[in-house]
Amino acid sequence: MVILADDLKLALDRLAFAKELGISPDEWQRALLRSTSDRVLLNCSRQSGKSTMTAVIALHRALYHPGSLILCLAPALRQSQELFGKVLGFYRDLGRPVSPQAERKLSLELDNGSRIITLPGSERTIRGFSGVGLLLIDEASRVDDALYHAVRPMLAVSGGSLMMLTTPYGKRGIFFEEWTGGHGWDRYEVPARECPRISEEFLEEERRALPSWVYRQEYETSFEETEDGVFTTEMIDGAISPDVTPLFGAGAAGGGS
Ligand SMILES: Nc1ncnc2c1ncn2[C@@H]1O[C@H](COP(=O)(O)OP(=O)(O)OP(=O)(O)O)[C@@H](O)[C@H]1O
Ligand SMILES: [Mg+2]
Repeated sequence: MVILADDLKLALDRLAFAKELGISPDEWQRALLRSTSDRVLLNCSRQSGKSTMTAVIALHRALYHPGSLILCLAPALRQSQELFGKVLGFYRDLGRPVSPQAERKLSLELDNGSRIITLPGSERTIRGFSGVGLLLIDEASRVDDALYHAVRPMLAVSGGSLMMLTTPYGKRGIFFEEWTGGHGWDRYEVPARECPRISEEFLEEERRALPSWVYRQEYETSFEETEDGVFTTEMIDGAISPDVTPLFGAGAAGGGS
């Protein structure tokens, strides 16, 4: 299938590439596929297709930008593996248009020098990658701040792209902060009612079955208070005074690097 790999139209047009995969993209998906932004945030309902779109973008990058290093990251290995599984599925569907050097459970290396690698969600084990062309963070609202801080420098020299995709999870964490106050991001917000594959009847059933804040979080892209939070984020923020001396002094063990 050399023809597909050499197809200039597909190389230049991610939307055409998605169609080649048999996908008929929704409106927001079309906009995302056409975007040239290298900083993307997706705040989307469950099942709206965010992992699918990111998998399309990852595979496109690997096939048409030889030598690309693409990392799939999530709070747990199982979740990043699921995203990687979608990439691998599309690659196989296309008939492996660039030959594999190594096709493994957690990584794919192509003859053109591109690599797609699944990472566990642990800060200690992921250091060491550089020259990253595309970094994907799935379920980003649940990723630890420390993990995010550890991966960002991997983009430093390569000028690589960063995409964070998620359903919201409380008014806290890196995704919430970037979504509400970060600069330079291309933002996509997709509530379930805008997804043509999720019916009104199903949403009505969910509304009745779930606590209202869970429904708003899962289907309406709303950053709700955490489920175990006795105090709201505002109450906690209001209660924290910068004048209070920390119980365990700032220079205590493990505090700095
Ligand atoms: N444009 C589309 N046309 C047809 N099916 C689609 C489209 N986009 C996504 N899907 C399908 O919708 C389902 C959900 O997609 P996906 O897993 O990417 O959603 P998600 O937003 O990542 O969901 P979750 O929040 O549960 O992780 C999958 O079966 C996927 O194949
Ligand atoms: Mg997903």
